[in-house]
Amino acid sequence: MATWLITGGCGFIGSHLADALLARGDGVRVIDDLSTGKRENLSPACELVVGDVTDPATVARAMEGVDGCWHLAAVASVERSTEAWIECHRVNLTGTIGVLDAARRAGARGRAIPVVYASSAAVYGDGPDLPSTEASPTRPLTAYGADKLGSELHARVAARIHGVPTTGLRFFNVHGPRQDPFSPYSGVISIFARKILDRQPLLIHGDGGQSRDFISVADVIRFLLRAMERTRDGRAQIYNVCTGDKVTIVELARVLFRLCGHEVEMHHGAARPGDIRDSLGDPERAAEALGVRAVWSLERALRLTLDGLTDPTLNLTRFGA
Ligand code: NAD
Ligand code: UD1
Repeated sequence: MATWLITGGCGFIGSHLADALLARGDGVRVIDDLSTGKRENLSPACELVVGDVTDPATVARAMEGVDGCWHLAAVASVERSTEAWIECHRVNLTGTIGVLDAARRAGARGRAIPVVYASSAAVYGDGPDLPSTEASPTRPLTAYGADKLGSELHARVAARIHGVPTTGLRFFNVHGPRQDPFSPYSGVISIFARKILDRQPLLIHGDGGQSRDFISVADVIRFLLRAMERTRDGRAQIYNVCTGDKVTIVELARVLFRLCGHEVEMHHGAARPGDIRDSLGDPERAAEALGVRAVWSLERALRLTLDGLTDPTLNLTRFGA
């Protein structure tokens, strides 16, 4: 039986990945400091180490005997990285280097541990040519994006100098069950969905014409699993994880109104500093190299997200995710 480490495994994406690994009979160990993740997201069948991913001793112990590591722990909020620059940097970049270093140390005693890590569409910034391909220029606008790009650069060092095979996944905007609907630092879909269900007004940052490439967590889990299978010795690979479909924030609100069967008011506030205007990815390189493509339509994926708000026990493995 394989055993895997997931950092940030009590979070939105990590806890679904843990379910998928358990469903195929594998063992799962998780490090999480429960800062945004929740203990109840994680199946009790997982081993949970409550600790900080920036603590080398904790990570070294957790890395012992595992077949691979998915590194997902981070402060996922772009806005938070503007407010708490150094604190987020410590987790989002130093934390990544710590994980790569622990994987290399394990390698010195035998085989280096492969690491699949969460990068982000934020590395592209406001790319002039859309959709962004993996060869597009990287010009992050925020501390969050800069630290994700830094993670990619250090992952390359890990592969080239230290023999740690890595795959970075540039997630675009992921949504689905277990994305926190109550935190203002959470993803826009979970915030809007809860507010519409509670008949509260939406706050749109700026004119709402900014757009995103929204992808279901059910699709993202398939990318994560395949990326580990295709992580290769000596290689530092990077792939977009996206649909290739563009939706503005106001359009998103209107689709949610339709699915919920009623509308709420839209209030406009100031645009967020560093908010990317248009984010759209090209899914082709991942489709070719990993053999995975997003298959959930926006509407079906939004229904799943809405179902997750009313049924917290919803487990995506029932959809084969
Ligand atoms: P999340 O906040 O639900 O999950 C992050 C997890 O990491 C949480 O469980 C949190 O408690 C944990 N964590 C944070 N700091 C930690 C620390 N110092 N030590 C240990 N654990 C810590 O967010 P998510 O949406 O599941 O994001 C997972 C990863 O994917 C993150 O790296 C994020 O940057 C990246 N990502 C997410 C999206 C998205 O749209 N959700 C898009 C691009 C990239
Ligand atoms: C999101 C992810 C980030 C990821 C990036 C990849 C979260 C919290 N953030 O950042 O981890 O790396 O995608 O593209 O998961 N908005 C409103 N009103 C709200 C909330 C948001 O108008 O109440 C707007 C924002 O200004 C932004 C858009 O919706 O223009 C998306 O915001 P958000 O969900 O926070 O995502 P990103 O900042 O794109």
